[in-house]
Amino acid sequence: MKLKDTGRTAQDIKDLVSKYMIETYERFDFIAETAEGMYLYDENGTPYLDFYAGIAVNSAGNRNPKVVAAVKEQVDDIMHTFNYPYTIPQALLAEKVCTTIGMDKIYFQNSGTEANEAMIKMARKYGVEKYGPHKYNIVTAKMGFHGRTFGSMSATGQPDNACQIGFGDMTPGFTYADYNDLESFRNACTENTIAIMVEPVQGEGGVHPATKEFLCGLRKLCDEKGMLLLLDEVQTGWCRTGRIMSYMHYGIKPDIVSMAKALGGGMPIGAICATAEVAKAFTAGSHGTTFGGHPVSAAAALAEIDELLSRDLASNAEKMGDYFSAKLETLPHVKEVRHQGCLIGVEFDGFATSTDIKHKCLDKHLLVTAIGANVVRMVPPLILTQEDCDKAYAILKEAVEEL
Ligand SMILES: Cc1ncc(COP(=O)(O)O)c(C=O)c1O
Repeated sequence: MKLKDTGRTAQDIKDLVSKYMIETYERFDFIAETAEGMYLYDENGTPYLDFYAGIAVNSAGNRNPKVVAAVKEQVDDIMHTFNYPYTIPQALLAEKVCTTIGMDKIYFQNSGTEANEAMIKMARKYGVEKYGPHKYNIVTAKMGFHGRTFGSMSATGQPDNACQIGFGDMTPGFTYADYNDLESFRNACTENTIAIMVEPVQGEGGVHPATKEFLCGLRKLCDEKGMLLLLDEVQTGWCRTGRIMSYMHYGIKPDIVSMAKALGGGMPIGAICATAEVAKAFTAGSHGTTFGGHPVSAAAALAEIDELLSRDLASNAEKMGDYFSAKLETLPHVKEVRHQGCLIGVEFDGFATSTDIKHKCLDKHLLVTAIGANVVRMVPPLILTQEDCDKAYAILKEAVEEL
């Protein structure tokens, strides 16, 4: 929908949002009217260099032509059906995901938080049915982030964060341990612990990759104690970190992994993949979803995966992530640059807030996000080139110098 066809002005649109919408976001102050590749465009055609990709979603580029074509084609055949009949894109996507990442079974959802709800529910039911009624506790990481529905927000180890404050009691059954500290996780496990759940890279927590010792240690600990390793790859999955899934950097496999964001190439879809043994916990009636595995989202996901794999965008993510991060280290006021592929966090020394830096970049038509007081996060489309990195760097440098 274009502004010129609505009879409204840009200010009208902002006013409508402010009057009628329940706002929980600090908006970028422009209207995203169209998008292509590495750019969003406002209603005047002004380009904005996209280093946030709808928060790690549009990995094969904004409005990737093959994804767009797949959506259009699917809309012409069938849209929503619920999960009673078989649908072709869903079956093909199930095969594609499972065989590509080496897992046995998949369950489709609509979003990251829903995928995590499914992962938590499956682990708990597996524990209760296999070991008894108290075996459903899960140890998660402090400063993690798993989503905003009750199970996921309770799994999020940030009791002082706005995402938990004011909502009353969290769902019982979660204990928080220190990320990248194996002993802390070992000590947090009790005879009632069925699983450990972490992100391979803490994204919202400030971009902190797991060390090899930590993640491989968690796998070993779970194996020793008959517990499950649950990996939240909602943000890291599908080539973002330089591998198809981040766990592939570590040479381990989870018992259940959640995914969303990049999977649908801009269409909403989430999923969990599990081993055949653990997947048995879900039986008829124990879980369900009206929209999960929607044919249009599934068709988009098939096209997105095809683009990611055939163009080897994981390798590009690794190459560009290394190149850009090395450059970012030379910015003034940088304390640390942390990254895994193109999940990049720049921690500044506090000379200005990350929100100030974000706004300054926005004025100069570069889109980045702020985490906490000092970290600027960048998760660009994985089609980016050295030239895109150089442009983004030049804008960031100007922004920091002006502040
Ligand atoms: C690691 C992780 N898990 C879960 C979520 C929640 O995903 P969604 O916003 O699709 O519910 C996010 C979102 O940022 C995330 O980064």
